[in-house]
Formats: sequence, C-alpha cells, structure tokens
Amino acid sequence: MTDKSVLLIIGGGIAAYKSLFLIRELARRGVKTRAIITRSGTEFVTPLSVGALTGETVFTDLFDLTQEAEMGHIELSRSTDLVVVAPATADLMAKAVNGLANDLASTTLLATDKRVLYAPAMNVRMWDHPATQRNVATLRDEGALFVGPDEGDMACGEYGLGRMAEPEAIADAIEAALSGETHLDGLKKKPLKNKHILITAGPTREPIDPVRYLSNHSSGKQGYAIAAACAELGADVTLVSGPVSLKSPANVKTVNIETAKEMLKACEKALPADVFISVAAVADWRPSSQSGKKIKKDGKGVPPLMLEENPDILSTLSKHKKRPGLVIGFAAETNDVVKHAKAKLKKKACDWIVANDVSGDVMGGDNNSMILITKNGEDHWPMESKLSAARRLATKISETLS
Ligand code: C5P
Repeated sequence: MTDKSVLLIIGGGIAAYKSLFLIRELARRGVKTRAIITRSGTEFVTPLSVGALTGETVFTDLFDLTQEAEMGHIELSRSTDLVVVAPATADLMAKAVNGLANDLASTTLLATDKRVLYAPAMNVRMWDHPATQRNVATLRDEGALFVGPDEGDMACGEYGLGRMAEPEAIADAIEAALSGETHLDGLKKKPLKNKHILITAGPTREPIDPVRYLSNHSSGKQGYAIAAACAELGADVTLVSGPVSLKSPANVKTVNIETAKEMLKACEKALPADVFISVAAVADWRPSSQSGKKIKKDGKGVPPLMLEENPDILSTLSKHKKRPGLVIGFAAETNDVVKHAKAKLKKKACDWIVANDVSGDVMGGDNNSMILITKNGEDHWPMESKLSAARRLATKISETLS
C-alpha cells in the first residue's frame, strides 16, 4: 500500500508506547505517518522519538506559531487519507462526540473531512461505563471505525476489555480502511450510474393462518444499508423487502412483499439487472397448507404443521436466463464460517459470497464484520457499522464493474 498517509493522534495513555511500534509497522507497509501528540500524550512518549520514527515534524500545540506556520491545523486534518486515534482515550472520544475543539487533537477531529479510526485504550470500568459506550455508539453511527479494545491484563492491575489493540491489528484495520476510502471519491463520481442493482432484504413471513406465521430474526438493516450505499454511488436500486420496521432508503425503489414466493416473483419482475445482491433471510420452509380462518384451540391437542420447501431465490436467479452479470449471496453462519460460505458459493452458483459470523449480536445489531469470498480468495473486513460495511461492498462492486 503505497502513496497513502495517515494522521496519527496519540492520546494520553500508557498504551502510547505501542503507537511507536504502529508507526514502524505502517512504514514497513509503505504507509506514511504524520503525528499529533496531545499534551497528556507527551507524558508517555516524546515528540523526539515519534519524530525520529515518522521522519516528520510532530505537532503538539494548537497555538504554536512555528508549527502553525509550517502547516495550519485545517490543512493538517485534511492532507491525509485517514485519521487514526491511538490510543483513543475516553476523554478524546467524548470530545469528538461533542465537537469540542480546545486543543490541536480535538480541533483536528472537528476539522477533518476524512474518516477516523479509533483504537480505544482505557481501564475496563471506564470502557464499560455507559457514557463511553454511548460515545462509541455515536461515533460508529457517524461513520467512525474502531479496532479493539482487546481483553487482557491492564497496566492498572485489573483484567478485562480495554487494552489497546496490538500494532499489527491496528495496521490491518488501517489498510482495510484505506482501501474503503475510495467510496468517498465515489460519492462525487457516481460510478454506479446507469447500473440496475437488485437487492433482497429482511425476513420472509410464511403464514400458517391469518394471524400466525413462520419467520426469523432478520432486521433488514444490512440489506437496507447496501441499498443506500449503492444508491449513493448513483445506481438504480430495486429493493425487494420482507416485513421490517425500516424506512425505504433515499433514491431506492422498494417493493414490499411477505412470503418467499412473493419475493421471487418480485425479483423476476425486476429483471434485467446488472447486479443481484441476495441479503434477505428467506424462510427455508413454509406451511404446506394455510388455513383461511384462525386455527382454534379445540382441546383435541396440537394441530399438525406440515412444511414444504421454499424456492431458493439466489439459486434461481443465478441460473436464470436473464442472470445478472454479478450475483452476490450472503452466508450467515455460526461456525466454520469461511468453509460453509465457500460451499454455498459453489452450490448456489453465485460469483461472490459475503460471509458473516452471526454467533454474536450481528443479527438485528448495528455492526457487522464481513468476509468477502470470491473465486480468487477471501477478504476479511473489520467490525464496523452496517453502513460502513455496505459502502465498502458498494465500492468493491463499482470497481469490479468499471
Ligand atoms: O442456504 P442459506 O439460507 O444459508 O443461504 C443464504 C443465501 O441464500 C442468502 O444470500 C439468502 O438471501 C439466499 N437464500 C435465498 N432463498 C432461500 C434461502 C436463501 O435467496 N430460500
């Protein structure tokens, strides 16, 4: 990864020493670093050691005339590809959430037009505190990226979540973020203009009688985020959605359906498409027969529930005579994620599979860590908001189509 640079903000925490290793690791990967150290950060590492490793002037003070003459704080915040805060203290994140700008680091976070990656480091109780968790959630919602914290022994003698991620892991997250940055470029260039992208999202509902149904926990959040991200890049998006409590994204044509059969019909009707992204959690089975009236408890025991298989929408569109040029499936797995996903890629004849581990709170949650599996290999993306993950996927699609 050459020609990329990061602006590293070193906050005041014992983990600051690891940032020296991070700078070295980034240099090894061809990424240039310019650094800001907060006033309390200078209690842990010196501008001299940071400057020796970056080979650049180190910025420490908002009102230093020599530094400001060399590069103004606005330019400093923008002449980079990514801002990285490591260690990200509770204080720095609280300032960023509230838009405070009373030193160079916080002013930079307010002035930047680039994405920010935080590597939090703090005592476990400070990390667990509702205020910190609220701040992290807000920053994530606003598009910030996170790496760590890890669980382990802390400098203060306690054990738990709060250790800053290791330099290699931060460098991996930086590399992943730098490749996702092209999305911002895409917002201006609209690389998916004139491309029709068909997306399914949400669960399906398979009725048993007029009041009961079979379904699953899918919230539709990931599919809606992908629809939004593709529309941001200029695509004509048709979103075929099962019942969810989300608003149709801007500039997206949403078709609401209930059952798997209806979903397939709506998808076939929407063809031709350049890309099909099958994000929906389609119910595998439906009741073989549906009662037109509510089934009564008649005291004679439980009514039998016979099931039959639903159509596989992804497989059907993959083998369709109007097959979209790029067909992308999703594989939600709880174990052996990559192995199962690769098997699905073959079985469903799609071009790409996005695998995700749903053993945690991904389903229904706001964050996701995707693994993109293609015939050429696999790409592991960091845990990030579903919208960030969606933007990364939309960018990848636009690069492939161009
Ligand atoms: O087989 P499984 O449900 O794990 O496969 C997941 C992928 O297949 C997802 O992309 C999902 O949208 C799609 N699928 C489908 N129709 C089904 C079942 C799954 O399109 N009936």
